[in-house]
Amino acid sequence: MTELSPESSMSSFSRDRDDEKERFPKHVAVIMDGNGRWATQRGMDRTMGHFAASKMIKPIILAADELGIKILSLFCFSTENWRRPQLEVESLFDLLTQYTRLESDELDSWGIRVKFIGDIKKLPERTQLAIQECEALLAHNTHSQLNFFVNYGGRAEIVNAAKELAEDVKNGLLNLDEIDEQSFSRKLFTGNMPDPDLIIRTSGEQRVSNFLLWQLAYSELLVTETLWPDFSPEDLRKACLDYSRRFRRFGDVS
Ligand code: IPE
Ligand code: IPE
Ligand code: MG
Repeated sequence: MTELSPESSMSSFSRDRDDEKERFPKHVAVIMDGNGRWATQRGMDRTMGHFAASKMIKPIILAADELGIKILSLFCFSTENWRRPQLEVESLFDLLTQYTRLESDELDSWGIRVKFIGDIKKLPERTQLAIQECEALLAHNTHSQLNFFVNYGGRAEIVNAAKELAEDVKNGLLNLDEIDEQSFSRKLFTGNMPDPDLIIRTSGEQRVSNFLLWQLAYSELLVTETLWPDFSPEDLRKACLDYSRRFRRFGDVS
């Protein structure tokens, strides 16, 4: 297994001091928004925006590694995105299927484990198959984790967790007073994964659009006007620097 080398991405990042890098976020989640506007501004079809967006994933993975990010979570398709024109939805799943098939070997060579999070069973069969193969191929990797949130909705995830807890109580596997924040978290699709330290939303929209509703309780938020297909490794580095200068108080006073 070849792990990501500094030469493989941006050696410019070496200018960040080690003490500064230590304060960089370990789990970054991104609402990758603005693909449609990016394409429209160029007189292109929206699907071209999604294609351009998929090309940005690799440089961002490489940059994330160099910045010391251990978990990168990318919001790809929400439970509400089914409302879009059928052709756009189909082209998004085609892209996801192709990406998963074509990039798995490279992700494996970098030691990255991949998880697809959301209601995967509703996706086209070919996409489900590609997802299963990709997850299985990369399951042994431990260097870092990449999460693709697909057909994911924070509210649906919470309802699902509540149902599973209710089932456990009904079947005598759990007492009612054992339901607490920890046992609830474990029933979410994210399981034992740490909550995101930083959530970035591109394209200037100041909303969370049903992403990680439970997990973002104390995440830092950063909204950038940059549209996702223009979001560069340097933008990710600037977001990490911004985060490293914030004070997370978690309700405390200092
Ligand atoms: C984000 O870009 C990608 C998905 C939601 C699938 P959009 O397609 O939402 O781009 P805009 O917001 O219309 O510009
Ligand atoms: C959020 O973007 C979902 C993803 C980026 C996958 P949307 O474009 O769907 O969000 P809204 O509709 O503007 O809130
Ligand atoms: Mg959008």
